[in-house]
Amino acid sequence: MAMAAATATASILLFALFFAGAHAEPADLPCALPACKTVGGGSQFFDVQFCLAALGSDGRSVSHCMDYQAYSFIAADLLAANVTATAAKIDGLLQDSGGRDGGGVDVDEATARCLRSCQALYDGTVRRQPGCAAAVRGVRKGEATTCLEEAAAAAREREDGFQRSKAASPVTAENQSAFMLAKLAVALLGEVYTNK
Ligand SMILES: *[C@@H]1O[C@H](CO)[C@@H](O)[C@H](O)[C@H]1NC(C)=O
Ligand SMILES: *[C@@H]1O[C@H](CO)[C@@H](O)[C@H](O)[C@H]1NC(C)=O
Repeated sequence: MAMAAATATASILLFALFFAGAHAEPADLPCALPACKTVGGGSQFFDVQFCLAALGSDGRSVSHCMDYQAYSFIAADLLAANVTATAAKIDGLLQDSGGRDGGGVDVDEATARCLRSCQALYDGTVRRQPGCAAAVRGVRKGEATTCLEEAAAAAREREDGFQRSKAASPVTAENQSAFMLAKLAVALLGEVYTNK
């Protein structure tokens, strides 16, 4: 009897946790949905879901309803954080590949070569991000768009290096995130101007 009650309580708890978890997803950002539908619905680069997940990952989004300008700042900041983290990951991978005895990830020679050229591209992108974010904040459309498009193009170029050498890229997911975040920021920025 007590056992059954305990089981029932546990199921209810799990049930509640499940829904709390499900609710923490994009549903948290209902007021960004129209904006994400506008920019993601017609995009060949990212979808509505990516837009919601990206904006939803930043606590500032909840207090901005359908504010394209705020969303574009947030996307630019997310891009900056993303490329900075990826550059650090690449540095770490290259360090590990230098000393195999350290028990790090095994990175083969071809991959290491590609990672070194990636590293140069990422470092360039990382250095440009504060200026890029400032241009987005200052709503300097031309400058901001060029800067963001450069970040997207750099992501594409990085992975081309891997495809050419047939080495497996350890940063494919990061490459895609950076590319889509840059395109998201460009699209949001585009809406700032059409709504003014
Ligand atoms: C990079 O962006 C993607 C997509 O928004 C996100 O899932 C990931 O957590 C971000 N990574 C970092 C380190 O910011
Ligand atoms: C990296 O991202 C770009 C942009 O989405 C894409 O063109 C390229 O195929 C990606 N590379 C890999 C290996 O996923």
